[in-house]
Amino acid sequence: MDKIRIRGGKALIGSIPVGGAKNAALPLMAASLLTEETLALANIPHLADITTLANLLGTLGVDIALDGHAAGGHQGRVLALTARKIASTTAPYDLVRKMRASVLVLGPLLAREGQAKVSLPGGCAIGARPVDLHIKGLEALGAKIELREGYVDAMAPHGLTGAKIVFPFVSVGATENLMMAACLAKGTTVLSNAAREPEVGDLARCLIAMGASIEGVDTDTLTIHGRDRLSGTTHAIVPDRIEMGTYAMAAAATGGDVELLGGRVELIAAAAEALRAAGATLEDTPRGLRVRRTNAPLVGVDVMTEPFPGFPTDLQAQMMALAATAEGASMITETIFENRFMHVPELRRMGANINLHGGSAMVRGVRKLTGAQVMATDLRASVSLVIAGLAAEGETLVNRVYHLDRGYERLEEKLAACGAEIERVKEAA
Ligand code: UD1
Repeated sequence: MDKIRIRGGKALIGSIPVGGAKNAALPLMAASLLTEETLALANIPHLADITTLANLLGTLGVDIALDGHAAGGHQGRVLALTARKIASTTAPYDLVRKMRASVLVLGPLLAREGQAKVSLPGGCAIGARPVDLHIKGLEALGAKIELREGYVDAMAPHGLTGAKIVFPFVSVGATENLMMAACLAKGTTVLSNAAREPEVGDLARCLIAMGASIEGVDTDTLTIHGRDRLSGTTHAIVPDRIEMGTYAMAAAATGGDVELLGGRVELIAAAAEALRAAGATLEDTPRGLRVRRTNAPLVGVDVMTEPFPGFPTDLQAQMMALAATAEGASMITETIFENRFMHVPELRRMGANINLHGGSAMVRGVRKLTGAQVMATDLRASVSLVIAGLAAEGETLVNRVYHLDRGYERLEEKLAACGAEIERVKEAA
């Protein structure tokens, strides 16, 4: 298994290109199941999670071409997906267990084919993460659903019918699944307390370009008027705000000066506010977003994760790595996932002073972290250890790099281009 070796203590200085958002790309890829025409996604990131979903879509009969034709002069890699005919409506355990977002094929398959059988994603490193909201929502659209042998077995032989659905709490995935399904349902669906994450808005805009009728995009109430069919389109994926926020925090933690190409402050507004409160400077440039922390030390800041537009849970671990060496205390509270502090024991091994009290972590800043061998069991926790390693004295070895490869494209290359001493250590399996 590959490792990442970091020799810390160097300020990041330079520029980093921001890729297309993984969490937008995954639902957009699933949306290709809604039409027999080609959906071309520009700016597709090169990540393990994208390959995992492409493999699943392949088994469902989707024809996939990388660098396929994209009209309109779009930039970046283009993934062309054509679901001319659905070959199978079953998403098997072996593929779904690798990535929870595979459940996003449930709504589109059911809406198009009247049936879908999708393995339950199962346990996940950052909490129980059930899919009950997805299931209840599809039932409200008229599907008959049974849980059998580890699978969600859904039937709607006469198609889905629009309904009013009020989510008891905000779920990104359930909003996306239901929005996709409702596009091919008969009549009107209203989704209340819908997620407003920019990736949900990106999906809505793509669906509209495919011929869907969706009102209330970027608000918490989505009204979808079902259509008989959708068509293909070409869509450029939004920039990855989590990648952007991660590198912004790495720049601030190392006392660096980095321009995030293709970034914008507005895309990470809540995280930008926290970074500014901690002492970093953020400003838009003609090419992106510049993050600096050149002289004064960082100061502690309290952060609480919330659904968008609040501080994202996917940046909580990275913020904690930064807080670890800030002056004073930071209270970091996680409200979205119940078990998202796996980075805490690892950060402690690097010298961080962190105490957990239920869903909150009290971080008392120390002057320096020291390098250590560390590992983490999820994507964002792993990258927080990279940030800590960049800011630490001495050598850090991050194990289980495959987590990073799920969500960060060319991480070590991008950081090395800004002066970081970082390399991938290949190991025989
Ligand atoms: C998405 C993101 C993930 C991010 C999360 C929250 C993708 C591919 N992943 O995950 O990176 O951390 O949003 O911003 O976009 N829940 C239920 N029942 C359900 C669905 C969710 O109880 O049916 C709970 C979850 O356990 C969690 C909370 O709701 O506690 C929010 O989860 P949700 O927004 O659905 O996250 P994902 O869509 O899985």
